[in-house]
Amino acid sequence: MGKPNLLLLALISTLVVLVQSEDPYLFYTWDVSYSTLSPLGVPQQVITINGQFPGPRINGTSNNNVIINVFNNLDEPLLFTWNGIQQRKNSWQEGVLGTNCPIQPGTNFTYKFQVKDQIGSYFYYPTTSLHRAAGGYGPLTVHSRELIPVPFDWPEEEYIVLTGDWYRKSHTELKRHMDNGKTIGRTDGVIINGKQGKGDGSDPPMFTMIPGKTYRYRFCNVGMKNSLNVRIQGHTMKLVEIEGSHTVQNVYDSLDVHMGQCYSVLVTADQKPKDYYLVSSTRFTKTVLMTTATIRYTGSNEPASPVLPEAPTGWAWSLNQFRSFRWNLTASAARPNPQGSYHYGKINITRTIKFVNTAGTVDRKLRYAINGLSHMNTDTPLKLAEYYGIQDQVFKYDIITDDPPADVGTKVTIAPNVITGIFRNFVEIIFENHEKSVQSWHLSGYSFFAVAIEPGTWSPEKRKNYNLVDAVSRHTIQVYPKGWAAIMTTLDNAGMWNMRSLLLERNYLGQQLYVSVLSPARSLRDEYNMPETQLLCGKVKNLPFPAPYSS
Ligand SMILES: *[C@@H]1O[C@H](CO)[C@@H](O)[C@H](O)[C@H]1NC(C)=O
Ligand SMILES: *[C@@H]1O[C@H](CO)[C@@H](O)[C@H](O)[C@H]1NC(C)=O
Ligand SMILES: *[C@@H]1O[C@H](CO)[C@@H](O)[C@H](O)[C@H]1NC(C)=O
Ligand SMILES: *[C@@H]1O[C@H](CO)[C@@H](O)[C@H](O)[C@H]1NC(C)=O
Repeated sequence: MGKPNLLLLALISTLVVLVQSEDPYLFYTWDVSYSTLSPLGVPQQVITINGQFPGPRINGTSNNNVIINVFNNLDEPLLFTWNGIQQRKNSWQEGVLGTNCPIQPGTNFTYKFQVKDQIGSYFYYPTTSLHRAAGGYGPLTVHSRELIPVPFDWPEEEYIVLTGDWYRKSHTELKRHMDNGKTIGRTDGVIINGKQGKGDGSDPPMFTMIPGKTYRYRFCNVGMKNSLNVRIQGHTMKLVEIEGSHTVQNVYDSLDVHMGQCYSVLVTADQKPKDYYLVSSTRFTKTVLMTTATIRYTGSNEPASPVLPEAPTGWAWSLNQFRSFRWNLTASAARPNPQGSYHYGKINITRTIKFVNTAGTVDRKLRYAINGLSHMNTDTPLKLAEYYGIQDQVFKYDIITDDPPADVGTKVTIAPNVITGIFRNFVEIIFENHEKSVQSWHLSGYSFFAVAIEPGTWSPEKRKNYNLVDAVSRHTIQVYPKGWAAIMTTLDNAGMWNMRSLLLERNYLGQQLYVSVLSPARSLRDEYNMPETQLLCGKVKNLPFPAPYSS
């Protein structure tokens, strides 16, 4: 993985006007192409970035400016999103079809964003077509600034573990299935950093550890369908970070990592010097799919034991593990003040929104929905239509309601799904899952407090079970079958933000929506102007540039 050029602003101040002046820049140039690789041992078409799968690591420090010049050498339009990067005032860079026109084949586009006030483990992935089923994802890590204390010692090394399920079929074939109204069914295997281990001692080591040293492993579930359990033979894992928050440092034998989630753990090489397997296996599936990666103690010549540590079973274990995750109130995150100085539990809720994931058919084709509405992408991105003031020609706000009726699961309709949020409102969002499979939700633009996950259905009395003190501030949350989850957040980031199911099939077939949060004053304090370099398409292609926001 190539190191980015790190230049000081003084050298290049003319290049970028949007981003803050004093912070360093990270530059990347990406060639996005198809390659033939064999993640599951059989050659297939994979999306690589600069020839790599997973793609290159974006790695920096809080407040760095990230500039990525993406050359689309695929044969289809392309966008990338930066899962978990909040894009303060800047949904222009979100990289989903509701905010951006896609990058056409044979052309390039430059993303410019700042990882403002964030630390932690994230990943990026392509959001267009079904590209994610062909890879194209990679890690994005943000470190604390030098003077800000981190609640653990700098590890000997950091290891990225992007793990996820995988299909043998190409993304075009999978997409054809869904476009014809069918499900794409079960995945075929699990991979770690693009590879399925043979698990017979013949795989070269993916990670090495020096006896006595401590390593940070950053796990992310970048798959499409399944929750995964990760564990390391003979070793425990000390949890230190979840999606940008420093946690209370509990020790675990294994971790459930649901779709789209990231966790950092510390692992100390304190066992007999030999090889050990890192295992990643599917949860809640009849047939368990799994893979291994080899961790070698330096100087070892003893293979890993073929006896793999068992995965936990059942939902209850997973739910209890969620409940054990706590924000470390006294640790710093991106800012020097302690995380717990923001007392979210004392803020009055101004709005409660309930989202129920539903499924059904429209014209005999399978669709997935939120509160009965299945999202449809538009030729003119929602954000652009709104900015140019022509939203009435493209979509309707608030088709769904905050409190869906009890029979919401019985009917599905298709339309752009956009709800409005009032700038700076403190909202409570309930996710109810009446279905039989685990759900995982991501909200872009924000981090939220994951205050509860429980079985059954939600009612206002359930608020007494919320963790209002030290729930982890993060950006994804799982919801177990026949269960619910509650999150809280302040809508203080103006923009058009995607809330999505991270299950690829559900997402592609409409289980996502957008939250439009407008700056009431159209002020530059709240939101950046559309960059002059923004790609234009659909109805706004030839319209005059709208009046800029005022400062
Ligand atoms: C990632 O960035 C941090 C902070 O700039 C740096 O200390 C670290 O060496 C980088 N790691 C890699 C693998 O580039
Ligand atoms: C495309 O790449 C060229 C060469 O690096 C660069 O000068 C140009 O600004 C890029 N265009 C866009 C739209 O990002
Ligand atoms: C929380 O962070 C503080 C400050 O870095 C650290 O001293 C403490 O050990 C951490 N607490 C737990 C329970 O992890
Ligand atoms: C929250 O609501 C309570 C009861 O309605 C009220 O007494 C209190 O002043 C409110 N607090 C804030 C910070 O608005």
